Amino acid sequence: MQQPQTTDDETRPALAVRWLADHLGTGDVVDFGAGLGRHALYLAERGLSVTALDVSPTAVAAIRDTARRRSVDGIEARVADARAPLDRDIDGAVCAFLLHYFTEVEARRFIDEIQRRTRPGGIHVHIAFTRGSRPVSLPEMPDAFVPDPAWLDAAYAGWDTLHRSSWRTAVSPHRGGGADADASTLMVRRRHAGSD
Ligand SMILES: C[S@@+](CC[C@H](N)C(=O)[O-])C[C@H]1O[C@@H](n2cnc3c(N)ncnc32)[C@H](O)[C@@H]1O
Repeated sequence: MQQPQTTDDETRPALAVRWLADHLGTGDVVDFGAGLGRHALYLAERGLSVTALDVSPTAVAAIRDTARRRSVDGIEARVADARAPLDRDIDGAVCAFLLHYFTEVEARRFIDEIQRRTRPGGIHVHIAFTRGSRPVSLPEMPDAFVPDPAWLDAAYAGWDTLHRSSWRTAVSPHRGGGADADASTLMVRRRHAGSD
């Protein structure tokens, strides 16, 4: 594997999302809280069948527009709340800078649901603000759920960890802040039955 992620460039797909495309090759991936679609568009360009979900109609319109301009096939962008149950099984999930919009209970339910719907061998990539050495400051989101990296690990007990790293990144205004914060990447794969 290449160098681990050490910061986040919001205009480019995160390394772990590129690795997800390498690992899966093909399959159905959902990008939850897709924003402007840096991950969803990249994965569709890599040949995966991608659903980009975001509660923001503006974000979804932007993804559709970029997909049209770049002639990207294999992507469906939809206005939807990531907390809603999934209507089908998937091979991959990307959840980048979304968990802090949820309460802890919602985050737990969300992860349970996407795990339940993931086929064996499927991969999840989480990139999230996490509690680190310094307090996380998201001034516009005082109630943001910012888990300890161990919380994410525990949520994926029984899955194989492909990559885990913690780093610091700038918190841009649309992420709810102005300073920088600790963040973590976790990339995990669902085991096949009988492989524990
Ligand atoms: C900080 S942006 C991250 C965008 C993208 N994942 C990235 O890493 O570039 C968070 C996105 O999550 C969306 N969002 C917030 N709450 C959501 C929810 N309950 N369901 C789906 N999307 C949500 C916001 O509209 C926003 O586009």
